[in-house]
Amino acid sequence: RAITGTRQVGMTKHQTWNAEGYDRNARFVSDLGSEILRWLAAKPGEHILDLGCGDGALTKKIQDIGANVIGIDQSPDLLEAAIARGIDARPIDAREMDVRELRPDGKFDAVFSNAVLHWIPDADRILTRIRDVLKPGGRFVAEFGGHGNVAAIVTAMRAVGQMRGGDTDLAGPWFFPTVKEYRGKLEKAGFDVLRCELFARPTPLPTDMAGWLNTFRKPFFDQFEGAKRGQALSDVVELLRPVLCDKENIWTADYVRIRVEARL
Ligand code: BEZ
Repeated sequence: RAITGTRQVGMTKHQTWNAEGYDRNARFVSDLGSEILRWLAAKPGEHILDLGCGDGALTKKIQDIGANVIGIDQSPDLLEAAIARGIDARPIDAREMDVRELRPDGKFDAVFSNAVLHWIPDADRILTRIRDVLKPGGRFVAEFGGHGNVAAIVTAMRAVGQMRGGDTDLAGPWFFPTVKEYRGKLEKAGFDVLRCELFARPTPLPTDMAGWLNTFRKPFFDQFEGAKRGQALSDVVELLRPVLCDKENIWTADYVRIRVEARL
């Protein structure tokens, strides 16, 4: 589920996605979406926007309830996978989204988003866009990375960036707010906050830390050329091994989530 993907190849500061790598290394992201779907509680006939629908795994569950759902995402590869699942999925930048492009006849009952909003640094702007596409009384239900998310992983990347003379800021461009910060932003955008929770969710990885790093933080490693890329990757993995890998060689990412339900 991604909002920042592009088809650029080679070295890029932008995160890119491909459906096959996502399926292998990140399927847990949609598998862990059942609770936020319960918060959404979609009803048949409702019009719902799935912001950052990715390959459409959760969008499909909303559609199967009988809701009319439109998914938006920026990754062409993931959009293709969503369309193949039968989702009305469209390539729209959430930061610029315009309701007229989505529903010429009206607005949405709900905006839903899972594991996407941490990729968008300008949270105030995105909340304004969400507000603008909701009907009066409409709801916004979302889950994404909260304060302290992947802290060990980011610290290890920053340390290796420093050791190897790289750009440490490439280690973590994400927006991981506290409850207080996000509540304030929601209220400023005109929402009533019904629930907003922050909780740790240590997440076992289906492959390993190298798979996670290559999937979720490729631009950090792409700054190192030739053999140095592999060395930087291995440095980060070995720094993390004592804290995130168990005796059975299972890696667990130090995820922290923020979950929110807000209404206009
Ligand atoms: C997350 O879902 O929390 C996440 C995804 C990519 C990078 C960092 C965090």
